[in-house]
Amino acid sequence: MLFSPACERNRSPILAVLRRWLPAGSTVLEVGSGSGQHAVFFTQEIPRLIWQPSEQASGVPPLQERIALEGSLRPAPGSRLLPALSLAVDATDAWPAGPYSAVFSANTAHIMGESTVAAFLAGSARVLAPGGRLLLYGPFSDNGVHTAESNAAFDAHLRSLDPAMGVRDTVELHRLAGRSGLEPLADVPLPANNRILIWSRRG
Ligand SMILES: C[S@@+](CC[C@H](N)C(=O)[O-])C[C@H]1O[C@@H](n2cnc3c(N)ncnc32)[C@H](O)[C@@H]1O
Repeated sequence: MLFSPACERNRSPILAVLRRWLPAGSTVLEVGSGSGQHAVFFTQEIPRLIWQPSEQASGVPPLQERIALEGSLRPAPGSRLLPALSLAVDATDAWPAGPYSAVFSANTAHIMGESTVAAFLAGSARVLAPGGRLLLYGPFSDNGVHTAESNAAFDAHLRSLDPAMGVRDTVELHRLAGRSGLEPLADVPLPANNRILIWSRRG
C-alpha cells in the first residue's frame, strides 16, 4: 500500500481548516488522492461527510487498496468514504457530474503543468454547486516571490526534474480561478510554509 509521511504530518493542520471551511454535511470530490491517507483520516474525523477520492487511472488500484482496507474503519457518524474514481483533470469527459459542496486537493498543483492546473480549476468550478468551495493545499508563491527559502529550493528541484512542474503563483491561480467563475474566499497559512487557498463558486 502507498504511504506518504507528509500526509501524516500535514493531516491535522488541514483537518482544522476543513472543520472551519467545509459546509456541514458536505459531499467532497478529492482530486489526486494519492495514498488515500487524507481521505480515510478526514472521514474518520468529520461527521456527515461524504468523500469521493479520485486519481489518474494508473493511481486508482493502490488508492482503492487503502480504501477497501481502511475506508469503513471507524468513520465519523454519518460519514462515508466512496470507492476511488478514475479522474485525470485534463480529460474533460472524465469529470463526474457533481454537484459537489467542495473540491479538495493536496500537493497536486506543483505536479501538474500550467495548462493542467487551468483544467483543474475550470473542472472544479464545473462540478461545484453554486456557493461550493475549492480548497487547494500546497506551497505557493506570491507575485513571483517565494514565501520561504525551502519553497524556492523545492521549486528549483521540481523544475530540474520536469520543466512543466513547479510551485504555482497565487496571482496566476486567482486569474485562472476568476476566469472559471471562482471567487477568492480565504488564504490560510499552515506549517512548513504551506497554505490552503479557498475559492467559492459564484452563484
Ligand atoms: C504529490 S502527489 C499528492 C498526493 C496526495 N494528495 C497527498 O497529499 O499525498 C500528487 C498527485 O497528483 C496527481 N496528479 C498529477 N497530475 C494529475 C492530473 N492531471 N489529474 C489528476 N491527478 C493528477 C498524481 O497522480 C499524484 O497522486
